Order: sequence, then structure tokens, then C-alpha cells
Amino acid sequence: MTTKVNAAALEESPVPQDVQPKQQTKQTVDPYNVQGEVDENGVVKAIDYNKLVEEFGTKKIDDELLSRFERVTGKRPHHFLRRGIVFSHRDLELILDRYERGEPFFLYTGRGPSSDSVHVGHTIPFEFTKWLQDAFDVPLVIMMTDDEKYLFSEKRTVEEVQGYCNSNAKDIIAIGFDPAKTFIFSDFDYVGGAFYRNIVRLSKHITLNQARAIFGFNDSTNIGRIHFGSIQGATSWASSFPHIFGDNEAETVGIPALIPCAIDQDPIWPYKDFRMTRDVSARLKYQGKQYAKPALIHALFLPALQGPGTKMSASIDESAIFMRDTPNQIKNKINRYAFSGGRVSQEEHRQFGGDTSVDVAFQYLRFFLEDDDELERIRVAYEKGEMLTGELKAICIRELQKYVAAFQERRAKVDDETVKLFMERRPLKWGGNPRAPVV
Ligand code: TRP
Repeated sequence: MTTKVNAAALEESPVPQDVQPKQQTKQTVDPYNVQGEVDENGVVKAIDYNKLVEEFGTKKIDDELLSRFERVTGKRPHHFLRRGIVFSHRDLELILDRYERGEPFFLYTGRGPSSDSVHVGHTIPFEFTKWLQDAFDVPLVIMMTDDEKYLFSEKRTVEEVQGYCNSNAKDIIAIGFDPAKTFIFSDFDYVGGAFYRNIVRLSKHITLNQARAIFGFNDSTNIGRIHFGSIQGATSWASSFPHIFGDNEAETVGIPALIPCAIDQDPIWPYKDFRMTRDVSARLKYQGKQYAKPALIHALFLPALQGPGTKMSASIDESAIFMRDTPNQIKNKINRYAFSGGRVSQEEHRQFGGDTSVDVAFQYLRFFLEDDDELERIRVAYEKGEMLTGELKAICIRELQKYVAAFQERRAKVDDETVKLFMERRPLKWGGNPRAPVV
């Protein structure tokens, strides 16, 4: 795995390198390059997530943690959790401890508004975040890193990213977040006050040497990029949001964030940044009160249509299903481009069966088909060769069309007023754990 980090790697790749994997044998995962290991025959394998957990030093979400989750929240774990799509974490146990005791915590996630073309790969972490918000009934802050997408691009103007920020906020709202419990903010607008004080506290504890070592910056990196990590990091402190948690910093510094994020971002920003933020939190106190370290929960990402071990790209139309695609576009893309785990001929397929571990249509169904029994029935039928690629693709097309159409219906109802409502600094209302003892 490549650990060398190029600051430019944060930009969305303008060339289709994540669709046509480079010739190399080892698994590579970073925002620039996502590719599974290549075997001796030159075939790209699916990403090995166990290996990722090992390399990143996070913890795997196992059955024991899942049953504890169910016991504590009274909710059946989401199918992403049941199927290992959300597969690794840091300190999730501590969050469950707090939930059990009725102690506060909040959810934090974000989006870099780099373009208007939101695809199904972008909505996945937000779908899961919404489910967590419903399951825990806690406040959620969503950071729109317009500054980041300006600083980390040679081309984008400030005005452009502001435009993307507005339209991406609408896409995010269309996932179905509860406005009473959700605060969305743009860095350009929200930096200042309590948030800026925290940004400065964080930046004071990071030397240039450390930033270089962590993120790979060099002498030519613009200083905005070097500083940006403290903005993204300081969002994980509850005291950055006095309108939500109150002004009493001695109390709020102890309230931790749980941060859902996709693992492909992990090797660079969120992962390294939040690991750094966790280290700084451990060293920071406010009037003798310890800052809480953020906890993390990681989702894997949808592969591009081109196959396992690749990542959807907003700038490559045939790599992804976009949230603005029509039913017909979805159908054509799946039929034309979705990498198949089927055999070369129908006879061979009937005899030997297909490979669901690399079949893109099947992999998408793991994300979008909620019914475990139906998914299992499809898996068995395809692997036995009873179900053909065309039939499997037809099911995938149906499910994606349903998902995208439902999204588009909600999206059409989100206007500038709705965005204003979500982005207004205001107190939020939430219940926390209703089963916790009332003190
Ligand atoms: N840097 C992320 C991006 O480019 C956006 C982001 C900010 C984020 N804070 C986050 C993502 C927390 C996940 C969790 O998309």
C-alpha cells in the first residue's frame, strides 16, 4: 500500500486512472488511486478490507460489537453493518458506553464540494449517517469544506466551490436528515467565534514537521493546505458549536464526536487528520477538563462500474451512477459497463456459475437491496449458474432505479429556504437515549 502522500492527491483525478488501474501488483487505497491486488494472471482482485484494518491500525467491527449495538440501541444493525460494508472503527465501544449511560455525544461528517455531480458512491456514507442519527437520536453536524476544495485545486475559484456547496447541501438534505437535529455549515461562513478558537488551539499543537510527516507536505505546498487539517479536526470538538451544546466549555469539551467516513478518504485526510486530532485532544484540557477524542466508524466504498478494486469518479460519466441519471441512463450504464463475474459463454456459466465477489451488479445489490433473504437467494442462484448475468443486472437496474428515483423526488422539494434552515445557527432538539435513567 502506498503511504507516500502527495498533497495534490486530494483533488479529484482528472484522468481515468481509478477506472483503468495502473499495472502494479499490490493493493493501493487512497483518494487518487483505488485498486485491489493484481494476481499472477493480471486479474485485479477485490479490495481486501481485513488488510486495510491491519494497515490502518483500526478495529474490525465484529459480531460481538454488533450484538452489543443491538442490545444497547434496541435497533437491528443496518444492513451495511450486517454485511461488513461498515467494517471498522475506533472507540465505538466508548460511544456505546455513553449511549447506555445516557451521556451526550454527537455525529460529525462532511463533504468536500468539488463538483455538482453527486453519484451513488457519495450518498452511501450519508445514508449510513442518517441511519445512525435515527438510531441514536443525537445531533449531527455536517461540514462543507468549500475552503478545502478551493485550496486543493489549481483550477476551482472561490465562487465555484460556493456554488457546489449550495447544490451539494441540497443533495445531502435530500437524503432525509431531520432539520431539528442537523446543522450543516460551510467553512467559509462558519469559521469564527468558538469554532475559530478551537481551530487555533488545534493548530498550535501541530508543528510544521509533524504536518509534513503526517500529510507529506513539502516546501512548495501552499500554507492554506498545511493549515486546513486544523479546521477539519476542530469540528470534532463539541465546544465548536455553542448554539448546539451551550457555552459552558468546561462541560462541552468532554462531549465526543462519532465520525462516519468512507475508508478511501481515510489514508489521507479524515484518517490522518482525525488520528492527529485524537492525539491533540489527549493533550488538551479546559479548566482541568479533558477534551474528548473523536471516535470513528468506517464504511467501504462502492466500486466503479468497471469492477472491483476501482472507485467511482465524479468526472468520469461511465464510471458511476449519478443521482441525476434517468432510469434509462441507469439501465444502459449497468448493461454496458458493469463488470460481470459471469462466465464467457452461457454454457460455461450454467456449468460453473458466476463469481459474486467481483460482479459489480451483485456488489451494488449488497448496498441497495435490504432484504437479506432475497440477496442470499440471488447469490446462491448466480454462483450455481442458475441465474445469468442479464437477470442479475436486471435486478440491479431495478433497485438502483428505485433508489435514484426516490432520491430525485425528495431532492426536487429542497429549495434555498430549506438550505437556509439547515445552515442557520440555532439550538437543536434531540432525545439521546430515552431508556437512560433521568437525572
Ligand atoms: N475532507 C472531506 C472530503 O473531501 C470532507 C470532510 C470533512 C469529511 N469532514 C469530514 C468527511 C468528516 C468525512 C468525515 O470529502
